[in-house]
Amino acid sequence: MNDPAKSTAPPALIRPVALVGLMGSGKSSVGARLAKTLNVGFVDADDEIKQAAGLTIAEIFEAYGEGEFRALERRVIARLMIGDPRVIATGGGAFMDPDTREAIGERAVSVWLKAELDVLVSRTAGRTHRPLLNAGDPREILSGLIDVRYPVYAKADVAVDSPAGISHERMADRIIAGLQAHGRAFAAETG
Ligand code: S3P
Repeated sequence: MNDPAKSTAPPALIRPVALVGLMGSGKSSVGARLAKTLNVGFVDADDEIKQAAGLTIAEIFEAYGEGEFRALERRVIARLMIGDPRVIATGGGAFMDPDTREAIGERAVSVWLKAELDVLVSRTAGRTHRPLLNAGDPREILSGLIDVRYPVYAKADVAVDSPAGISHERMADRIIAGLQAHGRAFAAETG
C-alpha cells in the first residue's frame, strides 16, 4: 500500500551532492539514506579508493603515506563528479585538499555535516579502521581536527547540524531542506 504522506516524488537532483565533515559526522550512513530518499545512486569515496588500490585505507597510509592517499583521493573524487548526479560521501580530509575542493565546487553542491566533539568521539569509538584516529587519543585528535578543519568545511555550500541521536531519515530531510534553500541541487519545479 502506498503511504500518501510519502507519495510525493522527491525533487530531481541535477548535480552531485558531496557530503563533507569529520570522521563520525555521519557522511556514509546519512548519505546512503539521502540517496534512497532522492532515488539516486550513492557512493562512498573511501570505498572507491580501496577498490582502486586493492588495499584498505589503513594499508594505503601505512605502505605509501598520507600524501599518496590524498593524491588517490583527489583522482577518485574528480572521477565521481562525472556521470549521473548522485550522493557522494567524501572522506573527512578530502575537502581540505584545495584541488578536491575546487573540483567539488565546480560540479557538485557540498554539504557539511557539522557535529560536536562529544558526538564525533562517541560515534567513532571502538572503530579501528581510521588511521588518523589510531595515532593517539581520539578525543584529542578530533579536537585538533575541529580547530583546523571547521573553518574550511564552513566553505561548503550548505551546513547541516548533526546532533546526537538524530535519525538518518531526519538528517536526510534536513539536508534536502538545506539543498532546496541553496537552490543549485534540484531541477526547478514545473507545474
Ligand atoms: C580521513 C577520514 C576517513 C578516511 C581516512 C582519512 C580524514 O574517512 O578518508 O581515514 O582525513 O579525516 P571518513 O571521514 O569517512 O571516516
